Amino acid sequence: MSFCGWLKIFKRKHAVGSEESEERTSAIGKSSSKGATSAGRGKGSGGSDVTAANGGEQRDATRFSSAKEKASGKSDVDESDLEDDYWATAVAEDDAKADGSDEGNPRNKTALKPGHSLMDWIRLGNSGADLAGTGGRVRPVQHSELASHNKPGDMWMAIRGKVYNVTSYLDFHPGGVDELMRGAGKDATKLFDEVHAWVNYESLLAKCYIGPLRSTGVFKLVPEEPEDTSKSPNSSMPPPPPPSLLKPPTSSNPAVIVTPSTPAVEPKVLSAISVVSTSSEDSATKSSPVVPRFDWIQKTAEVTFIFYTKALCNPAVVVEFVNNLEFNVRIFLEGNVRHRYQFQVANNLQWPCTVRQSLEAGKVELVFNKLLPGLWTNYGQMEHEQTENYPMELHEYDVATRIEITHDSCALLLRPKNNSILQITPIGHHLSITGTVAEGQVVTRSYTPVPHSAVPTDCPPTFVPLLVKTYPLGALSKHLTRPVPLATALQISQPSGNFSLAKLKHHNRIALLAAGSGITPMLALLCYLLERSSNKMESVSLLYFNKTEADIWCREMLDNLCAKDKRLTVKHFLSDVDSPTSAQPSAPAAAGDSRPSTATTGDGAASAEDTPSKATTLERGRISLAIVQQLTNVDSPLAASFVCLCGPKPFNELACQHLEQAGHNPSYVHSFQG
Ligand SMILES: Cc1cc2nc3c(=O)[nH]c(=O)nc-3n(C[C@H](O)[C@H](O)[C@H](O)COP(=O)(O)OP(=O)(O)OC[C@H]3O[C@@H](n4cnc5c(N)ncnc54)[C@H](O)[C@@H]3O)c2cc1C
Ligand code: HEM
Repeated sequence: MSFCGWLKIFKRKHAVGSEESEERTSAIGKSSSKGATSAGRGKGSGGSDVTAANGGEQRDATRFSSAKEKASGKSDVDESDLEDDYWATAVAEDDAKADGSDEGNPRNKTALKPGHSLMDWIRLGNSGADLAGTGGRVRPVQHSELASHNKPGDMWMAIRGKVYNVTSYLDFHPGGVDELMRGAGKDATKLFDEVHAWVNYESLLAKCYIGPLRSTGVFKLVPEEPEDTSKSPNSSMPPPPPPSLLKPPTSSNPAVIVTPSTPAVEPKVLSAISVVSTSSEDSATKSSPVVPRFDWIQKTAEVTFIFYTKALCNPAVVVEFVNNLEFNVRIFLEGNVRHRYQFQVANNLQWPCTVRQSLEAGKVELVFNKLLPGLWTNYGQMEHEQTENYPMELHEYDVATRIEITHDSCALLLRPKNNSILQITPIGHHLSITGTVAEGQVVTRSYTPVPHSAVPTDCPPTFVPLLVKTYPLGALSKHLTRPVPLATALQISQPSGNFSLAKLKHHNRIALLAAGSGITPMLALLCYLLERSSNKMESVSLLYFNKTEADIWCREMLDNLCAKDKRLTVKHFLSDVDSPTSAQPSAPAAAGDSRPSTATTGDGAASAEDTPSKATTLERGRISLAIVQQLTNVDSPLAASFVCLCGPKPFNELACQHLEQAGHNPSYVHSFQG
C-alpha cells in the first residue's frame, strides 16, 4: 500500500512535525540498482522465479513525472488521489521539497541516528536496562504525575490506560522526536490511533511500562468507549482491555506465571482414524482473559497438540523447532498476553508440523508426523508460562522465492533461518519487516501475509507468503523485491494488528473495499468468511480499486473463488480510463490469469445483475458515493451490514465519508490502516 498520498493532508494537520524537516534526511537508501518492473515472467535457478528488469524503470519514471504534473496546483485531497500511487509520490516529493529537505520524506519518517533501528531498540530492551525507571516495579500513575513527566529527558505517555516511560524511545521513534513529544505527559491514545493505530506499542514499549493510569474521578480511564471511537471509523479500535487486565501484576514487570513442569498426562489412544473432541469451544466467556486449554491426541503415524483459546480469538501463533525432541509454542492473545509452552516430547518428531486452525472454535492444532510410527504412552513434558507485557520478538528470514505478479509487484516467499520457525498470522494482522538497505540504512515497514493460495507456487508451511508492490524510490519495498541477489537477513516481528474477527460475528452480508495493495488483508478474510459455518454468509462483495487492469493482484484466485461460490461478488474498478488495458476483457496482465472476466463501463453503479455470467467484473471509476450507496441499498445485491476498508489513507477516509453519507452505521466499519 502506498501511504504517501495522504501525507499532504497529514502534514497540513500536523504542521509542527514538518517544521523540523530540514533536520530530517530520508531513510531511503539511494540504490542505483534497477527496479524489476517487467511484466514478463521466467523461472530462475535455485527455485526462484526471477525476471530481468527490461526498461521498467523508464516506464515508472515517465508515469512519475506525469503524475507530478497532475499534482501541481492541487490544494486538497480529491478522489483522484486515491489509488494513484504515482500521483501520491509526486505530491510527497513536492511537499518534501517545500519543507526544504533534499531527499524528501514522503511518509514523515525521520532518518534514525545510527544505532537506533528497531533491532537496536529490541536489543536495548533485552539488555536488562531499567527503561521504565521504576526498578522493575509496576505501580499505578495519577494523571497529575503523568503530566509532570513532559520533557525530552523525562517523558511519560499513556496509551489505552497504560503509562509508559518513553524517554529512551524518543530517539528510536520512526516518526521522530517532535512527533512523539506531542504526547508528552498525556493520554495520547487518540493521537496515537490517528497516526498509526496498527503499531504494536505494547510489545515495543513492554520494558517501558510503569503501570495503569488511575482515574481520579474527573478523568476517564480510557479516553473513548468503543462506541465513540467508531464515530471516527478510521480509528475503529478494539475495546479497552477489561479491568482485570489493567490491574498491575503483583510481581515485577513483566508478570510471569510459570506452571511447574507438567507430569506426563495419560494419553488418549486412538485408532488411526479417530478424532477426539474435548473442546471447550463454548466455555470461554467474553470478559474473562483467555487461558488456552491444552490437549493432545495421536494416531500411529502422527501426534496432534491442541490449544483451545476462545471462539473467534484469531491468535498469532509461533512454533519454534529446537530438535526432534523439543519445540516450543507461543500463543499471542489480546492485551499483550503471551502463553509459552515448552515441550520435551517422548519420542522423535518430524519438522515442520502442519497447523490446522478452527477460528470459529478458537482451536489451534499442531500436527507432527512421528519419526517412527507407533503409539506413545505419553507425550512427554510441557512447561507453560504466561507473560503479560512481553517484548517484541524478531526472527531472521530470507527471500527464498520471488515471482513477478504484475509490472510493479512481486509475490515473495520468506524462509526462516534454519527453517526452524513457523508463524501463523491472524487474519487482518501484519508483520514488521526490517532490512538493511543501501548504504547500511536499517528500515522497518509493515506487510500483511497472504494465504498460501494467493501465491502462484507451492509454499512450505514455514514460509511466509507476501505480495509486495515495488516503489521505485521506496526504501524497503525495492530492497525486498529486488531480483538479484534476493534479499537476506530480514528481521521479522511476531504478527500484530487491531482487527477483531469477533466484530463480524453477527453480520452475514459483508463488503470489502480495497485499493491497490490494500487487497492483502482482504484475501485471508475473504476465505474465512466464505468458509464460516455459524451465521453463514449470505453475501460477500469485494470492490477492488486499481489504476489499470494490469495493476490487479490475485485476479485468478478471485475469479476462481467467484466462480465457485455464488455468494461472492468481485468488482474491479479502474481509475485510469486512458490505460490501454482498462476495462477490456481479461488482458493477461496479472500472473497466471487465464479466465475471462466480464467488462463493463460506466460510473460504477452497475449491479451484479448486469453480469451475464458469474465472474468478476471490470468497471471504470473511483470510490464514489454512487458505488458506496449500493452497499447501503437493501435492494442491491451488494447490500452489506459490515464494511472493511483497506487502501491509502485518503481512500479509507473518503470511503468512510461516503459510507456515512449513505447512512451506513460507522460502528460497522473496520479500516485496516495502510
Ligand atoms: C499495516 C500495514 C500493512 C501493509 N501491508 C502491505 C502489503 O501486504 N504489501 C505491500 O506492498 N505493502 C504493504 N504495506 C505498505 C508497506 O508497509 C510500505 O509502506 C511500502 O512497501 C512502501 O515502503 P518503502 O520503504 O518501499 O517506501 P518508502 O521509502 O516508505 O516510501 C514510500 C513512497 O514514497 C516514495 N518515495 C520514496 N522516496 C522518495 C523521495 N525521496 N521523494 C519522493 N517520493 C519518494 C516511494 O516511491 C513510495 O512511493 C503495509 C503497510 C501497513 C501500515
Ligand atoms: C504522540 C504520539 C505519537 C505520534 C504523534 C506519532 C507520530 C508518528 C509519525 C508521524 C510517524 C510516521 C508516519 C508513517 O510513517 O506512516 C510515526 C511512525 C511510527 N511510530 Fe509513532 N507516534 C506516536 C507515538 C508512538 C508510540 C508510543 C510508538 C510505540 C512504540 C510509536 C511507534 C511508531 C512506529 C513503529 C512507527 C513506524 C510505523 C510504520 O512504519 O508503519 N509511535 N509515528
